[in-house]
Formats: sequence, structure tokens, C-alpha cells
Amino acid sequence: MIHKAIRGTKDIYGESIDKFDYIIKQAEETFKDKGYRHIITPTFEHTSLFQRGIGEGTDIVEKEMYTFYDRGDRQITLRPEGTASIVRSYIENNFFATEEISKFYYYGPMFRYERPQTGRYREFYQVGLECMGSNSYILDAEVIYTAFSFLKKCNIVDIEILINSVGCPKCRTKYREVLKSYIKERLDNLCNDCKVRYEKNPLRVLDCKVDSCKKEMKEAPNLLEYLCDDCNTHFEGVKKYLDMFEVPYKVDNRLVRGLDYYTNTVFEIVTDRLGAQGTILAGGRYNNLIEEIGGKSVPAIGFAAGVERVSMLLENFDNDNRFDIYVAWMDEDVKEYTFNIINKLRQNNIKVTFEYEKKSVKAQMKKAAINSKNVIIIGSEEKESGLLALKDLDKREQEKLTINEIINKFRK
Ligand code: HAM
Repeated sequence: MIHKAIRGTKDIYGESIDKFDYIIKQAEETFKDKGYRHIITPTFEHTSLFQRGIGEGTDIVEKEMYTFYDRGDRQITLRPEGTASIVRSYIENNFFATEEISKFYYYGPMFRYERPQTGRYREFYQVGLECMGSNSYILDAEVIYTAFSFLKKCNIVDIEILINSVGCPKCRTKYREVLKSYIKERLDNLCNDCKVRYEKNPLRVLDCKVDSCKKEMKEAPNLLEYLCDDCNTHFEGVKKYLDMFEVPYKVDNRLVRGLDYYTNTVFEIVTDRLGAQGTILAGGRYNNLIEEIGGKSVPAIGFAAGVERVSMLLENFDNDNRFDIYVAWMDEDVKEYTFNIINKLRQNNIKVTFEYEKKSVKAQMKKAAINSKNVIIIGSEEKESGLLALKDLDKREQEKLTINEIINKFRK
């Protein structure tokens, strides 16, 4: 039997892994600059954490989790997202007692049983951050600015930032009722999913992608008009500081997220270059989640980007992974001399490759052309004179240099 990767999963190698590594590096640099520290949490947790955290009525919890019983009869779920685990860790490790503000960033695989298609997988990677300890709207704006800066650092500029406020439980309860009576009159014309949503999570009807639902919801009451004074002040503050951070954004009063934990600010960064999977990054504030999971009442906010989706947008990606120098050697007499040269080059951080076994010069030159920027060929003449011909394979130029001159050249 030939084994194949499971549907919705993939091997990441070659140019794809170069892009992955590049994206993670840009994220780490951007996040660390704002005071975030790396955290690694387990890839599986007790199922109840996600049920409570993400919400019983959500698509993720109802239809998409990889849940099983382990050999100790514990109900386990492969994490579908990172936020719930980080909140669990924040509570369990008592961060609240030791620091006023906690800032974490993370990356790793997430698992959701969704219908696979371009940009949508069953195992996919997220890179994201979470900040616990402040309810300031300046933080909301800074978090969105950080998301924007990360994508800008990856040279991804063809994007739109959508923001909205879903208020607090108090104003949302009021809005829910108004929305429900609006939907009730149109229920027959909505898709089957929305009929269920109407009962469980009517706000989700607002962002249904089915045309008939979109049409029916066109005149739906505006969530922003139902915000209480505190939530309204908060949202005005977020917008003001986004302007001050010079972050371009658009208010989208239909933006509601698929996870239940959000309060106040929610946001998504979207592109029209990826078809149906256009959301590359998403997040928001979750001021009640820490308490709901068993901790103190601590406000928090965060986001996560889909690494595969960011990767699909990478352009002008500097993918020159070639070695600086390929060192070819002609015969056994110069083998040790060649090895000393290689050693010196490597000690000076020059990226060098060579053959372990003797090969013809022609075969070595062929390999050099594929994987290196420069080549040196070492024979008895070079060994005696100490002068090495360094050939630039792109420019097709050659110069004779001593080993120290070569080291100096690459140092520059
Ligand atoms: P989310 O919107 O479920 O939010 O996922 C965030 C991002 O992960 C999406 O915008 C998308 O780019 C990527 N993503 C989601 N599902 C898939 C999939 N099946 N295949 C490929 N990429 C996918 C969260 O997960 C929240 N935890 C974000 C957050 C952090 N909110 C506050 N803090």
C-alpha cells in the first residue's frame, strides 16, 4: 500500500518552507519589537476548554473539531485555534499575579475538519499574538497596527483592514432581540444554516456568504447603533488611534466573527486575491474569556494570521538560497588542502558546499551552476601558489585571490 498525506494536510518543503520560515521570521521581528514573547502550548487540550472558550454553538465546536478519547479515557481535542490554550496557560501559570500586562506570540499547526480547498486545510498554521491586562483602545489600535506592520514587512500591501465592534454582552443582548425579530420575518428565505443560526447565534446570519441571505440582510439593523455609551466611546477611541498610527481601515458593521468569545473590537484583514478564502488575518478583543475559563476578570485582545494564506500572497520573495561558494577539487592530492580552505571559509560565516566523493570537474561545475553563486576550482597549481580563481557564476567574471582576500570580499 502506498501511503499518502491525509486529505486537507500537506508536506511543506522546498520553496513553500522557505516562504514559511520567512513569514515566521517577519512576524517574530515585528511582534518582539512590541514586547511580545514566544509561547508554545500543547497541540491538544481537554475538549471542554474549546467548548467553553470558542462557544458551543459555533461551527468550530459543532462540526470541525478533531476530538477523540485517549487511552486514559480523557476527551481530547486537537487545537482548532490558539487563543483558548493561551488563556488556559495564562490562568494556570498565574501570569496575572506577576505581571500587569502579558504579551504572547505563537505559531504552530491548528486542526479543523473543514472542506479542503485552496487556502483552506484541515491542518493549517497560524501565527498570532495575544495581549492580556488592558482594556485601553490604544492597545486595540496598536494590535491592529502590529498586524498591519507584519504584513507590510512581508511586502503584502494589497489588503483591506475591516473593523467593527460587537459591543459587550449588555448591548449585544439588546441588539440580538432586535435582530431576531428582523430575521424572523424573513426566515423562510434564508439558507438552512442561517435558520439554525437564527436560534443559536443570530449575529452570524449577518455575515452569511449565501446570496439570498445577503439580500435579505441588506436592511438589517446596524449593530453599531445599539452600542452602549462605554462600548461606543471605546470604538471611537480605536478609530482615532488607528488614524494616529496611520493605519488605513474601513468600518464594516456586518463583521461578526465565528468564535463566541469576542467583545467590542473585532477586525479582519482581507484580500480579493485569494477567492473565497480572502481573510488572511483576524482577531479582536475578548474581555470575558479569561473569567469564563476560570480566571480573574482580565481584558484581552489578539489576532491570528493563516500562514498558508499569507504565503500565497508573497511576491518578490527573495528566495536566493544558493551557497556563496562551491569549492570544486580535481584529485586526491588536493583533497586535504581543499578541506582546509573550506574550513577557513566556513569559520568566516561563508556558506560553502563541496563534494565528499571525487567527481569529474564537469559534474562539479554542473552542480555549482545549480546551487551556488560562485565557484573555486582547486588543483595542484592553486595548492602551490595559494592563489584561487573565484568565478562569479551570475556575472561570469573571474579574479585570482588569496584565501584572506576572498574572506574579506565576502565580509563586505
Ligand atoms: P480565525 O478567524 O478562526 O480566528 O482564524 C484566523 C485565521 O486563520 C483566518 O483568518 C485564516 O487566515 C486562518 N485559517 C482559519 N481556518 C483556516 C483553514 N482551515 N485553513 C487555512 N487557514 C485557516 C482565530 O483562530 C482566533 N483565535 C484569532 C484570535 C486571536 N482572536 C483573538 N486572538
